[in-house]
Amino acid sequence: MKMVKLKFGFTSVRTRNWSVGISIMVLALIFIIRYEQSGHKLTTEIDEFDIEGESVQEPAKKPHLITLEDLDYLFSNREEEEDEANGLLVWSHMRPFLERPDALPETGQGIEEAALAMKGLVSLINKEKRASSSASGMVSMKARRTCPDFVNVADVDLSGLSPVLELPCGLTEDSSVTFVGVPDEHSRNFQIQLVGSGILRYGVNFSKPSIVQNTWTEKLGWGEEVRCPCHGSYENQIVDELPLCNEQTSRITLEESSNDDAMMDDFPFLRGNPFTATLWFGIEGFHMTVNGRHETSFPYREKLEPWLVSAVKVSGGLKLLSVSATRLPVPDDHASLAIEEKLKAPSLSGTRITLLVGVFSTGNNFKRRMALRRSWMQYEEVRSGNVAVRFLIGLHTNEQVNLEMWREAKAYADIQFMPFVDYYGLLSLKTVALCILGTKVIPAKYIMKTDDDAFVRIDELLLSLKNKPSSALLYGLISFDSSPDREQGSKWYIRKEEWPLGSYPPWAHGPGYIISQDIAKFVVKGHRERDLRLFKLEDVAMGIWIQQFNQTVKRVKYMNDKRFHNSGCESNYILVHYQTPRLVLCLWEKLQNESQSVCCE
Ligand SMILES: *[C@@H]1O[C@H](CO)[C@@H](O)[C@H](O)[C@H]1NC(C)=O
Ligand SMILES: *[C@@H]1O[C@H](CO)[C@@H](O)[C@H](O)[C@H]1NC(C)=O
Ligand SMILES: *[C@@H]1O[C@H](CO)[C@@H](O)[C@H](O)[C@H]1NC(C)=O
Repeated sequence: MKMVKLKFGFTSVRTRNWSVGISIMVLALIFIIRYEQSGHKLTTEIDEFDIEGESVQEPAKKPHLITLEDLDYLFSNREEEEDEANGLLVWSHMRPFLERPDALPETGQGIEEAALAMKGLVSLINKEKRASSSASGMVSMKARRTCPDFVNVADVDLSGLSPVLELPCGLTEDSSVTFVGVPDEHSRNFQIQLVGSGILRYGVNFSKPSIVQNTWTEKLGWGEEVRCPCHGSYENQIVDELPLCNEQTSRITLEESSNDDAMMDDFPFLRGNPFTATLWFGIEGFHMTVNGRHETSFPYREKLEPWLVSAVKVSGGLKLLSVSATRLPVPDDHASLAIEEKLKAPSLSGTRITLLVGVFSTGNNFKRRMALRRSWMQYEEVRSGNVAVRFLIGLHTNEQVNLEMWREAKAYADIQFMPFVDYYGLLSLKTVALCILGTKVIPAKYIMKTDDDAFVRIDELLLSLKNKPSSALLYGLISFDSSPDREQGSKWYIRKEEWPLGSYPPWAHGPGYIISQDIAKFVVKGHRERDLRLFKLEDVAMGIWIQQFNQTVKRVKYMNDKRFHNSGCESNYILVHYQTPRLVLCLWEKLQNESQSVCCE
């Protein structure tokens, strides 16, 4: 769970609610959703032009059941693959935790897709092996270029329903997609869709000049739409420091006539006039810039994060001259560059180490992981093996991304894979996996959880841990008094059935917290024996489990430290969050240069 600072200076756990006081406008859309077995791509056909009526058809939802077949496949003998990358050390322990009857709702889908992804990956690995053993280097070189940095298409034909652009390895923060087009003279609307595990829709309406953004997921259907010009309570909402709607556009009020030319001047899209619109992906959401001016922002929702987007669709009344996507996630070429020895995880002595740091990462975050390897993973304590850092990553729905990750795991020996796809709702299973790693695979006195966009001062952290208790410890930025988010559509939305109480027990914020080994053991045992409940917010979940430890084993020492910064950077930090790869490298350089922890922005 994250805290987001509002523009007005107050901080609240509950600020990402886009729920609005306005009544939900019924979307006049008819859609047919097909969930294709082959390749598990979501195909959506939305006929949005001629329908102004009230009829809304619910898309078909397909239940995902955990099947024994999938589980057996996932946990079948993986020795051969394990030897190669050594990335399946936790995997083999995970089966009992996935088979719980009270599994998290997305477990079925996560496992089903992971089984599919694993099959694809194994076949790619074998193909690559055959290619390299046939001594034809050409073949393997050709197989290498799988995740391009840039894709584009020109003079796009919009008559079909197929995507105008495929994004082979998804998007990442800082990626952008640029559209150059001309709305027809009599255009009523057009729309852009990003399609992946769900749909993100960006609709431009000329009959009533407005922009509508919304998301569709299999689980929740269409969410709450955000409309610009905006009215109501989301007017002040901020995403990556940008407002949801440009203020100038917002001056257009619903009362004004839609044919008012003066008003149309402020609307970013004009019929018959060319536009260049760039959709770019920030840390908290995506943003649209039209002809150089920021127009709209929209926070990410569950299942609609950039890494899950696989294609772009465009439809409606416009001529589309070109679409291009840039700054796409590209892995380093681990094979051709001789790996610098200092970037590879050192081998561990086998005795109990001081600290294990589990970094939660996801498939195509190649750049973030490289930035960490080149920065705080270079601390002497890490290089000497007293502190171990491991990335915990679920499988990706795209097999090329999986293959790249596999190569990365082999090259750096610091990745542990999860037997499920990285859905946000399954994060707390990763937390259990980290506890397994820190107790059974790499036993450590303390276990830390962090994210791949956090910078950790290992030296300062170890210093601080020196005078902390070695048992029954939770250390980090602790929330002692917080309550569940009941706003549907929020990434942190919790139903009454999931957590009936009005408040949570104390928990430490997810970007960085530390527990002692005895608590990690308790977590593993508690889940194996099913005494501990699963809960989708991993950091709150840890707080819930720790409260149970406090009640049944030993009194817990909750140690709060404000030097763990949850959003952004402040000097004299132990940990800062929301740092792009560029900032992570800059922070490291600053530490080398000035030997004090100052921020880069
Ligand atoms: C465009 O706006 C008009 C007026 O609000 C509305 O009736 C119509 O359904 C909208 N069209 C789309 C595609 O949203
Ligand atoms: C932990 O246990 C002690 C009693 O042993 C109790 O006073 C305290 O409130 C508990 N803390 C939490 C967060 O439950
Ligand atoms: C660190 O020092 C080098 C050499 O003096 C300088 O070029 C670089 O800009 C400095 N970096 C930062 C982040 O201050």
